[in-house]
Amino acid sequence: MSAFPAPFDAVVVGASGGLGAALVERLEADPRVGRVHGFSRSGGAPLDLTDETSIAAAAATVKAPRLVIVATGLLHGPGVAPEKRIAAVDAQGLARSFQVNAIGPALVMKHFGQRLPRDGKAVLAVISARVGSIADNRQGGWYGYRASKAALNQLMRTAAVELAMHRKDAICVALHPGTVDTPLSKPFQKGVPAGALFAPAYAAAQLLAVIDRLSPHDTGRFLAWDGRNIPF
Ligand SMILES: NC(=O)c1ccc[n+]([C@@H]2O[C@H](COP(=O)([O-])OP(=O)(O)OC[C@H]3O[C@@H](n4cnc5c(N)ncnc54)[C@H](OP(=O)(O)O)[C@@H]3O)[C@@H](O)[C@H]2O)c1
Repeated sequence: MSAFPAPFDAVVVGASGGLGAALVERLEADPRVGRVHGFSRSGGAPLDLTDETSIAAAAATVKAPRLVIVATGLLHGPGVAPEKRIAAVDAQGLARSFQVNAIGPALVMKHFGQRLPRDGKAVLAVISARVGSIADNRQGGWYGYRASKAALNQLMRTAAVELAMHRKDAICVALHPGTVDTPLSKPFQKGVPAGALFAPAYAAAQLLAVIDRLSPHDTGRFLAWDGRNIPF
């Protein structure tokens, strides 16, 4: 375990989301944290994952953050619905899933990653999903979401390898928050066993505890809310 030099600034991309808002709230209450910069299209300062110029402009407003969390994601919305069968796969829906779940976060890693301090603990964490694990896929379904999260995991892992060359204390990880009661999971909560649906505040606290325990030797890992390793 290595500790963040305090005080430090934090960034939450997706600050308007169920999990993102809970992360912002918890970070704002943390005495070690100086400023929390929240971004999204509808809350905090503006950032649209589908517009690289807006990502670069957002990154330029932040100086040397020690913690950057990408808490954006898309499972359902206009033109996107989790596909149960390959017959339901649609090019535009797939492209939209990749755009929001993989390409946008990669651009956030590109623009915010270079702003991490050169020395001392710094963490770049992307919120992924266990269903993005290829090794763990026994149930099938949700083609676009699964595949775009698998792509996100690979982009994170590749960035972790590169980051280690330039910033020896920096850590890049993908995190699974558990099943969390947010607009993203709302339509799919019926089958979730009692006790397995987390309040956003609980999931945020768990993820921040995992982040606190990280050391450079953890870089490139895919970890769940309880700190356990998830196979890629
Ligand atoms: N909830 C769960 O059970 C669960 C389980 C596993 C993994 N996850 C992952 O956890 C993360 C957080 O999800 P959540 O449950 O908090 O979902 P959510 O409440 O639906 O929030 C999604 C966030 O993504 C942002 N976003 C979407 N498209 C965007 C775009 N084009 N540009 C910028 N921001 C965009 C939204 O902001 P705006 O719309 O305001 O831009 C919002 O802040 C996601 O990565 C999700 O895949 C969630």
